[in-house]
Amino acid sequence: MELTAVRDIVIDMAKEAGAIALDYYQRPLVYNTKASNYDIVTEGDKATELAIVAQIKKHFPGHYIHGEEGGGQGDPNAEYHWYVDPIDGTTNYAHCFPYWCTSIAMTTQDRQPLVGVLYAPVMNDLFVAVKGQGAMLNGQPIHVAERAELAECIVVSGFPYDRKTNPDNNQAEWSAMAPLVRGLRRLGSAALDMANIAAGRLDGYWERGLHPWDTLAGVLLIQEAGGKVSTYSGEPNPQNTEEGRYLVSNGHVHQKMVDVLMSARKS
Ligand code: IPD
Repeated sequence: MELTAVRDIVIDMAKEAGAIALDYYQRPLVYNTKASNYDIVTEGDKATELAIVAQIKKHFPGHYIHGEEGGGQGDPNAEYHWYVDPIDGTTNYAHCFPYWCTSIAMTTQDRQPLVGVLYAPVMNDLFVAVKGQGAMLNGQPIHVAERAELAECIVVSGFPYDRKTNPDNNQAEWSAMAPLVRGLRRLGSAALDMANIAAGRLDGYWERGLHPWDTLAGVLLIQEAGGKVSTYSGEPNPQNTEEGRYLVSNGHVHQKMVDVLMSARKS
């Protein structure tokens, strides 16, 4: 598989998807709730995913597709798999807060990302990564930040959709991290949080309960920009765990974040 050719097709797909999502963004909101009142799906999510899935089927017949809204399609034994989040940051999208994006990744069968494209149309940020070929933002190479002390870092996190009923709701970790960093944020798009670490704008991120469509384009961006992705305890490949517990950083503060998160979870 020629990955640069795949990359160019995925860039076109992401731009077309972004235009569809933007069109719905400007219309009156139509949405439904999913597993909880916090977890919603809009008409924009559904229409955008349909367009992306149609393009994947056209260009890559036989590949397996995992869509956030539409589920799995194709032969699960296919060599290549696609993970599609039509709108990552749906809550922001539904409230006309511009921090959301379309995230598309092509991976191996065991979820190792090969091509990742993430497009945030309101901000006009197009992030692209190809395995072994680096990461780019709007055509320019990007790298993680050099910051090595938590006190000089902006760190981001997220709260799981089951936070009302599950005591593993990130309050202990959030409270432990807050006094140690320059800034702590909850921005609302896991994919963009990771991309912005790849671009050196942010330094660290943690969250549990993430799905591979939220993260796999971001994982490749981080890997190609020189950062690090692990579970909270520092183990590799969080995308292959049930809990979807991710710790992502510029690499320099990774172990410090592992220490803070692990001690918060014990206390
Ligand atoms: C969500 C966003 C959010 C994170 C959630 C994700 P969605 O994705 O990434 O920041 O906190 O865990 O599910 O539902 O908007 O695609």
